Formats: sequence, C-alpha cells, structure tokens
Amino acid sequence: MAGHNFLFVPGPSNVPNRILRAMAVPMEDHRSVKFPALTQEILAGLKRVFKTESAAPIVFPSSGTGCWEAALTNCLNPGDQILASRFGQFSHLWCDMGRRLGFDMNIIEVEWGEGAPVEGYRSALAADVQHQIKAVLVCQNETATGVTSDILAIRQVLEDLGHPALLFVDSVSALGSIDFRMDEWKVDICVAGSQKGLMLPAGMGITCVSQKALQAAQNSRHPRCYFDYLDMVKSNGTGYFPYTPSIPMLYGLREALVMLEEEGLENVFARHHYLAEGVRAAVTQGWKLSLCAKAPQWYSDSVSAIVVPAGFNAAEVIERAYRRYNLALGAGLSKVAGKVFRIGHLGDLNEVMLMGAIAGAEMAMLDCGIPVTPGSGVAAATQFWCTHEAPVGLGAGA
Ligand SMILES: Cc1ncc(COP(=O)(O)O)c(C=O)c1O
Repeated sequence: MAGHNFLFVPGPSNVPNRILRAMAVPMEDHRSVKFPALTQEILAGLKRVFKTESAAPIVFPSSGTGCWEAALTNCLNPGDQILASRFGQFSHLWCDMGRRLGFDMNIIEVEWGEGAPVEGYRSALAADVQHQIKAVLVCQNETATGVTSDILAIRQVLEDLGHPALLFVDSVSALGSIDFRMDEWKVDICVAGSQKGLMLPAGMGITCVSQKALQAAQNSRHPRCYFDYLDMVKSNGTGYFPYTPSIPMLYGLREALVMLEEEGLENVFARHHYLAEGVRAAVTQGWKLSLCAKAPQWYSDSVSAIVVPAGFNAAEVIERAYRRYNLALGAGLSKVAGKVFRIGHLGDLNEVMLMGAIAGAEMAMLDCGIPVTPGSGVAAATQFWCTHEAPVGLGAGA
C-alpha cells in the first residue's frame, strides 16, 4: 500500500518521531543507583502537567481503565455510595465498573451530547445531608460524544454545600490537550492515560492523587494489591517502582513532557482549540452536518463526533475511509454506533495533517452517497485557519 496510514481516532494518537526515538533504548536495571533521577524527573514533569504542587502523580503499567479501578479501590470502602453522571460510553463504563466492584452507584442520566449536569450534582449532593456519598465521578471529556464538561463548576457545588465527598475526574482524553487544574479545582483523583494528549503508545495509566485521597487510602479497607497507591507512593519516594516499570515507556514519557514544556502547556491547549475550531468549521459550515455535542459550551477540543444524516450508516463511512483511503476515523460507540464517526484532533497535530482527515472523511462520505459538496469541508477549514492567527507551536519555526 502506497503512502502511510492516517491515524485520526481519538487515541491512540500519533506518536511523534522524537518520542519514538526516545523509546528506542536498551533495557537497563530499574534498581540501579542511576534510576531514581529518571523517576524524579518524570514525576516533577507530571506535576506541572497536572498543575499541582501537593498531589502525587502515579504511573501504573495499565491503560486509563486501570486508573479508574485504582481510584475506586484505594479510596473507598466496599459498598460506599458514589455519585456519577452518564452521558457517553466512557462515563457509562466508569459507572459500570463501580457497580461491578460492589459500590452503591447513584447515577444521573444525561442525554448523550450534553455534559456533566451541574444542577443534577447539586440536587443529589444537597439531598445527601448525612454525607453518605463518598465520591463524585465526572468525565471531563467524553470521548464517545466529543463533549467537555466544566470540572470547576462541580467543585464549586461541593464547596457551596460543604460536602466532603472526594472528586474523581476522568481526564483520559483531556490531559495534555484541554486545560486541567488539579490544585485549583481541588480534584482528588485525576485519571489519564499515555496514548492521547501525552502522545505515547497505550500502556501507561497516568493518574494523580491528592493528599486528601491518600489519607482516604490509609483508611480504606477495599481489597487491592497491584494498584495500591500507598505502595507506589512509598516506592516512588525513593525513585523506584514496586515492580518492574516499562523502561521504553518511561523514556518516551520523559520526552513527551519535554515536548509539552517546550511548546508551553497553554500554547498546547490553544493549538488544540484552534485545530478543533477548523474541524468544527468543516463539519458545520462546510458539510452542513451536526456535531453530537449539542451546544458550543460542550464542544471538545480533542475529538469531534460527527452525526451522519438520517438514513446513512456512519460505520460504512468509517470502513470506506479505512479501506479506500487508509484513514482511521473513530467509530460510533454503543448508543451512537452507526450514527456518528469521530475525528480525533489531539496530540501531535497541525492543520495540514488534519486536512488529510477532513478530505478523507469527505471522500468517504461522498462514496457512501452522503450529499456533501466536494471540497466544502476543506474549504471551510481553510477559511478558518487562514483568517485566524495560529497559536505558537504551529509551523516549522523560523
Ligand atoms: C474518556 C475516557 N475514559 C476512559 C478511557 C479508557 O481508557 P483506556 O482505553 O486507556 O483504558 C477512554 C479511552 O478512550 C476514554 O476516552
């Protein structure tokens, strides 16, 4: 097959060559005297990405899902009440995990395409006068629908009510792409993974745990072993891990953190927003299609879920894009299967790369009979990107 595969699923994202090269290392002794310097550099860099002074970043050899399980089993007791909202496949899966692990899940159902229901959380927490709810779960960026939620607003609800529940945030498809503030938003556990904004292969669960959550872990009787925060924090304190870490992934993570800092985190977020705006222009102004996200307040800067017109099957567009144009688009999951395809616009990306995804999706839609005007998506994105100032971080530099 000529040419390369265009990877535009919302994770794994494209791994930059710099990171691939950084990962091409011989194995080394993870108990050597030299090793703690690597661990310490990584943990310090992660603190800056999570925007925390006091919380502990933790790297597990898992994916993001492992960090969900760690959050639930480290800080809660069997049968504890959890308050969560469900508005897409990933918020659903976290709720489902809570149920399967034996917690008492209070779930606020929200229409897919909307985000975390601030007033829903307020009324549920206000009614909980005995403070039986021990943790509040929120998905910052619902990857299935391309919806971003306001975490600070949920924190504010807890503050307004003086409710002591821990705040757990799934930032798997936001961290490193969309602003996240551990300390300012007083998040107790942030859950993320390596394969999205951090531009690495999948295989690392990356999480951050507040001092309040670590205190809760001291008091938790929930069984856990491999994912024990306290074992990890104790070992990390000396620069080591409680078990064998993945050396290439650690070197890759170190390089990813350097790259994010070189660009500047705020510039990284501005770039994601600017690129996402171009994609949204293609979808709404060019193709005259709708996003699954129901209103601009929910629009995600890391992924767009695009609704195909009634009578068409988005799965066919995805298959056509893959087979004919070597372009991987994200599938519609669960309730929106067949109804949406997704363009992931996160990680190491620029306008011209995204043009490939827009043009390829456009051709695949046309091949499937969807009446979009040829060139309309590319034209709308061009119009947007050529009339708005690009954030630093785009272009080859001087
Ligand atoms: C928002 C969100 N949460 C959780 C997950 C699960 O993460 P992982 O696949 O790394 O286990 C994903 C994966 O795409 C996600 O997008």
